[in-house]
Amino acid sequence: MNTARLSLDPRRRVAPVPRRLFGSFVEHLGRCVYTGIYEPGHPTADADGFRGDVLALVRELGVTTIRYPGGNFVSSYRWEDGVGPVEARPARLDLAWHSLETNAFGLDEFMSWLDRADLEPIMAVNLGTRGTAEAVDLLEYANHRGGSHLADQRRANGAADPYGIRLWCLGNEMDGPWQVGQRSATEYGRLAAQTAKAMRRFDPDLELVACGSSHLGMPTFGSWERDVLTEAYDDVDLISLHAYYQPVDDDLPSFLASAEDMDRYIDAVTAIADSVGAIRRSTKKIMIAFDEWNVWYQSATPSTPPSGEDWPVAPRLLEDHYSVADAVVVGGLLISLLRHSDRVTAACQAQLVNVIAPIMTEPGGSAWRQTIFHPFARTARHARGAVLDVLRDGSTTTTDRYGEVAAVDAVSTWDDSTGEMTVFLVNRVTDTPAEVTVDVSGAQLTGIIECVTVGGTDLDARNTADGPDHAVPRPNDTAQQADAAVRLTLPPASWTMLRMRATEATA
Ligand code: AHR
Repeated sequence: MNTARLSLDPRRRVAPVPRRLFGSFVEHLGRCVYTGIYEPGHPTADADGFRGDVLALVRELGVTTIRYPGGNFVSSYRWEDGVGPVEARPARLDLAWHSLETNAFGLDEFMSWLDRADLEPIMAVNLGTRGTAEAVDLLEYANHRGGSHLADQRRANGAADPYGIRLWCLGNEMDGPWQVGQRSATEYGRLAAQTAKAMRRFDPDLELVACGSSHLGMPTFGSWERDVLTEAYDDVDLISLHAYYQPVDDDLPSFLASAEDMDRYIDAVTAIADSVGAIRRSTKKIMIAFDEWNVWYQSATPSTPPSGEDWPVAPRLLEDHYSVADAVVVGGLLISLLRHSDRVTAACQAQLVNVIAPIMTEPGGSAWRQTIFHPFARTARHARGAVLDVLRDGSTTTTDRYGEVAAVDAVSTWDDSTGEMTVFLVNRVTDTPAEVTVDVSGAQLTGIIECVTVGGTDLDARNTADGPDHAVPRPNDTAQQADAAVRLTLPPASWTMLRMRATEATA
């Protein structure tokens, strides 16, 4: 049996939980939009064609923000194609995913869907095939109250009030050779700075995200961030990080410890951003938007788009079918994001429906929860208040990829308005349970509310449309309170959420 001791104290806080950490991503890719969130004629669809069964699951998932419309898609997208009378909208070739984009769904549909789901948008502009002018046009269409050509067009299209979109991505993965319109770091940094300056002439309070590297393994990682921020430091607020994980060579122990990679990635980009700031003698801190992250079996669903004469509408692309082990990893990645909430202030699990997604649909049929739905939904619902700095001590395990790492990873949140203290834990060891002691000081523990676990057995089990509940969180009955501590056992390869009640010490 491995052991771990976690020390929590509500006086040791990292940062308030950024609610934008629980974002997701809707790209015009595969069936995320068409037959995903939008399917006119579906038995649950409303008058606008929005699937009611999907909306219900989106609400249950607890996402807070949605990045749109891409992704690689945005780098050759003309946003104007997607507004105005639907019958007049042009069908276009989507060069990113070799598909036909009908444009039946565009900005106005997205904003009314968001309104229905009560979510905040994160809007990406095309800095691949387009530039500053088109970005500013989109901003005027979306956010100006009226009296100008584009704002009046929005009003004529049925949206009288401006959308007030606050958070904008200046392009997507502009370092990637797969991107339509890839640029060098300096070239992109200048374009991002120029676009940001123009957008701020309309509204100085916008929050703007510059593209970081597409992933930690990019050959230009590090110098890309440095050079982009050297050009754009004063003009942007956040820099993006993207990371997708999958087991390599069936190495489950390393896969379960994927949060190590995420931790190191965040720490590295934070250090690079701060070094650019220090050289500029700036007191401003650049925050991180981890605006694409997830498990993605890229070797099974290649990231290169299909080719040839066929340009299908909404083909089945990137429809990964997730296991219990994948859910444990997703839970672990959320722990890493929360741990860094002093710098990571926005994040988007990629993507929301059908495309590497927690929610799956069948056209004309049901919508169901993948295994990865559960740790996300529980974390989004119960990580409230402030993130606590958890002191960890205990057994370690050796992984091929990351060397020696803690056997148990954990983060905690404390909501002083409800008195709820929650701990999220992962046992990364595949064959050994872990006995965990959670010590609480600075607060009086008054009871355990709930303890649930995903994993431990059946790591390869998957949910399906016909069997949507094979892998769901199960009560973990081992959690017992003893004075100022809770003891519990984590099964091997598992994710656990422990909710406790506590009152803050007054003295
Ligand atoms: O999320 C799938 C794709 O992954 C996105 O379009 C792109 O930004 C990333 O490479």
